[in-house]
Amino acid sequence: MVAAAGDEAERAGIEVAAPLVCTEITKVFGEDLAAAMALLDEGASRQVVQERTGCLIAVRDATFSVERGEIFVVMGLSGSGKSTLIRCLSRLIEPTSGTVEIDGTPIGDLDDEGLRELRRSRLSMVFQHFGLFPHRKVIDNVAFGLEIQGATKADRYERALQVLEVVGLKDWTDHFPQQLSGGMQQRVGLARALCVEPEILFFDEPFSALDPLIRRDMQDELLSLQASMRRTLVFITHDFHEALKLGDRIAIMKDGEFVQVGTPEQIVSAPADEYVREFTEDAPKTKVVTVGSVMRPLDGETPAGEPVSVGAVLDDVLPRLLASPEELCVADDQGQVVGTVDRDQVAALLDEGSRAGAAAGDRTAEPR
Ligand SMILES: Nc1ncnc2c1ncn2[C@@H]1O[C@H](COP(=O)(O)OP(=O)(O)OP(=O)(O)O)[C@@H](O)[C@H]1O
Ligand SMILES: [Mg+2]
Repeated sequence: MVAAAGDEAERAGIEVAAPLVCTEITKVFGEDLAAAMALLDEGASRQVVQERTGCLIAVRDATFSVERGEIFVVMGLSGSGKSTLIRCLSRLIEPTSGTVEIDGTPIGDLDDEGLRELRRSRLSMVFQHFGLFPHRKVIDNVAFGLEIQGATKADRYERALQVLEVVGLKDWTDHFPQQLSGGMQQRVGLARALCVEPEILFFDEPFSALDPLIRRDMQDELLSLQASMRRTLVFITHDFHEALKLGDRIAIMKDGEFVQVGTPEQIVSAPADEYVREFTEDAPKTKVVTVGSVMRPLDGETPAGEPVSVGAVLDDVLPRLLASPEELCVADDQGQVVGTVDRDQVAALLDEGSRAGAAAGDRTAEPR
């Protein structure tokens, strides 16, 4: 894939604005929006607004930005406002207030043509129900975005074939969607989204209709694609394990509001409230907690042996910890030894993990 223009600027040390910046996005459904917004401004609760105006606050004051190459996950229970939020980001629905900037352009200012152009070339969306055209062959579904852009058949087929190869479907180009399994259809959906080389990709629960094993494959595939393409991704899910596995950062949403935004490690180790804590209860902590969080600062002499990195997740260093009773030293990003792994803290986490694992049963969507 072509490297994003922003990458070069970053390498050259030029500061680049985040490709996606959302400021105080609010979406209210109902008739008396003015009254609802006035109450919101006064700090009224969602419930009070609903009782007094009949309006529903689907999203309230969502503020965040997503960096190039980042996967920003929005996670929350059904009805928490995830789909409404992601639809506001591309103006599939109009936010009641707030702004969305894509590469510095406030998309609220775009006219219909500007919006079409944005959706044609800059951003793509993948939904839970794949939304494929049943009477078009796989290749024509994938090439659809380029067809709208006016690309010649030869050009769009060449590109569509490249992308179909990436998602492992190059032998299925002439089939129709209904001849494919659900997992394969979602690969077509993904290929269609990638075909126009969008800067920004929005995913609304794309894998939730898939069987657990296929779902895990798709997650792995998305991660490996993202490692090479470094796009700006917003990914919606109601599965906390999926959020931990995919997210560089996760926003936890409840009743239309973000209750916590952080890295998987931050959320798992310091849940902001009871709602978040419940999600984290059966989370496989050793897969997200890093060595830096269970480190004792150096006290006296530096132990011998190859250090482990402060940023490594515990799972990756467990084999070494278990293989020898010796102190395991930890190095910072510059390679400087700064501490040792605290075995008591690791043991406590493992103990918690095994109790959670027993309670959760056999989970298939495991964080990376
Ligand atoms: N067009 C609409 N008109 C009125 N209310 C709506 C509309 N769309 C969504 N809502 C309401 O807004 C709230 C948030 O819905 P939304 O679909 O964004 O939730 P969600 O987090 O995506 O849920 P799910 O996990 O079930 O997809 C819900 O109470 C929903 O009923
Ligand atoms: Mg939804």
